[in-house]
Amino acid sequence: MSTLEIRDLHVSVAHSDATAQPIDILKGVNLTVRSGETHAIMGPNGSGKSTLSYAIAGHPKYTVTSGTITLDGEDVLEMSVDERARAGLFLAMQYPVEVPGVSMSNFLRTAVTAVRGEAPKLRHWVKEVKSAMGELEIKDEFADRSVNEGFSGGEKKRHEILQLGLLKPKIAILDETDSGLDVDALRVVSEGVNTYKERGWVDSTGTPVGGGVLLITHYTRILRYIKPDFVHVFVGGQIVQSGGAELADELEANGYAGFTQAATTGA
Ligand SMILES: Nc1ncnc2c1ncn2[C@@H]1O[C@H](COP(=O)(O)OP(=O)(O)OP(=O)(O)O)[C@@H](O)[C@H]1O
Ligand SMILES: [Mg+2]
Repeated sequence: MSTLEIRDLHVSVAHSDATAQPIDILKGVNLTVRSGETHAIMGPNGSGKSTLSYAIAGHPKYTVTSGTITLDGEDVLEMSVDERARAGLFLAMQYPVEVPGVSMSNFLRTAVTAVRGEAPKLRHWVKEVKSAMGELEIKDEFADRSVNEGFSGGEKKRHEILQLGLLKPKIAILDETDSGLDVDALRVVSEGVNTYKERGWVDSTGTPVGGGVLLITHYTRILRYIKPDFVHVFVGGQIVQSGGAELADELEANGYAGFTQAATTGA
């Protein structure tokens, strides 16, 4: 079992004008994600959802001004970005970055070697990647292409889930992994996430543990494939309400108006 615990998290970002005050974006986020649980975060544009995911992953632009993040009691904020990945955190970014000159296959092997602590045996590795790519219906030729370079939006998202399947993190943060996916890709990507949820990772005794998921999305359509245990409404840098899967349907029907009013009036 694994637990990601976020307590009263405040995060600011540096203003592009260096003489100006940093901008406060997260204003007291509390959230606990355990192995096998799926938490969906839904909220209006600009409310701070990606900022939360960057803060957990350790993006240098975002400064934690107060609060804590721990993974199984270990202080995540003390860890470098790669230590966080090795500790079992994974972020599928809203806008995956292109890495020209680095092939997908080299990138994946390097990432897996870093996270697992040893290079996978070449023969096993080739089989493992082939099978993972097959499950996500990714053509073989992508192995030789530069990371994300010239990939379509949906292809980038598929490759994020390929990484998820190979890296087997304890907790995965998926930031709008569903955006830009056609209906078939949505199904394939969701199956990839569900496989991770079921197979998850293997603990020190060799026991498989279900993966924990923090799924940021604007649409309930992905939640028809990936069933959330909890839905959180994120407004103005905070979680303003939490509930079960039914809360997502309520948001789709009524929007965020009631919540944004409450956030601005403090009601
Ligand atoms: N580097 C930055 N400089 C200035 N403002 C920033 C920076 N990064 C984030 N912000 C601001 O912080 C706010 C939150 O941004 P964030 O990307 O976290 O929102 P979001 O909830 O993920 O939105 P979306 O649903 O559109 O993806 C926005 O108003 C954004 O403009
Ligand atoms: Mg975002």
